[in-house]
Amino acid sequence: MAQLIGGLGTSHIPAIGRAIHLGLQQDPYWKPFFDSFPPIHQWLGEKRPDVVVMFYNDHGLNFFLDKMPTFAVGAAPQYNNADEGWGIPTLAPFQGELDLSWHIVNTLVEKEFDIVTCQEMLVDHACTLPLKLFWPEGDCPVTIVPVCINTVQFPLPKPSRVYALGKAVGEAITSWNSDKKVAVIASGGLSHQLDGERAGFINKRFDLQFMESLQTNPEWATQFSIHELVEKTGTQGVELLMWLAMRGALTTAGAGARLVHSNYHIPISNTASAVMALETV
Ligand code: DHB
Ligand code: FE
Repeated sequence: MAQLIGGLGTSHIPAIGRAIHLGLQQDPYWKPFFDSFPPIHQWLGEKRPDVVVMFYNDHGLNFFLDKMPTFAVGAAPQYNNADEGWGIPTLAPFQGELDLSWHIVNTLVEKEFDIVTCQEMLVDHACTLPLKLFWPEGDCPVTIVPVCINTVQFPLPKPSRVYALGKAVGEAITSWNSDKKVAVIASGGLSHQLDGERAGFINKRFDLQFMESLQTNPEWATQFSIHELVEKTGTQGVELLMWLAMRGALTTAGAGARLVHSNYHIPISNTASAVMALETV
């Protein structure tokens, strides 16, 4: 059976893509963010996953407000990136892991998650940036299965449902008939609000408690309603649901998750940026 080696989390602010493109990693503004990656690169270099299941939210590139699935799974041989209007260079296509995609799709439907299956799918900065951050050199060495969770247009799924989805995806990964190594990635958050009266809102206390809970009490955040989570994290901060899905997936692989490395830094473009790597034990 496939081996689930661990989970990674990172913020996906579009300006990070521009910083990578311009080589600004040592710039004083960017250094505190990019400095959190080398320990994780080292861990990934030892573990060498073959496949990534990416929990992220599309921001309007593939799904728009007229058609917004709560949960969608990619089942395409290849995923193209496209110009999002940010001036960030478009990346080369990413290779899919079709067999795992269909195994996840079948497992989720069997477990009563009524997902949308996408045999064609554009992937935006939320899917591409983590791959570039965790594997900065050369071509992306992993194949991917994108799993989209709606955090853009209400109604949004509640935290307990997202955690359950993550668990079901983890069960699909660990029952996949393959000798490949799989990592799950959470892309998004942490607290931020880009618009409205609370634009610029950041909640450091909640973010740090949430990050701690992923190690010590992973179901902690499932106590909140989605409206409470928006209140505590901001309208876009609810992207931290992805981290809950990632952690849910890890519960199926073993007894627990050991912290490899984490970092929290305020701000990158009005966002509380966070990075984390957890290893299944
Ligand atoms: C921004 C966009 C995002 O998708 C996000 O998660 C954080 C910040 C931005 O435009 O700054
Ligand atoms: Fe986002």
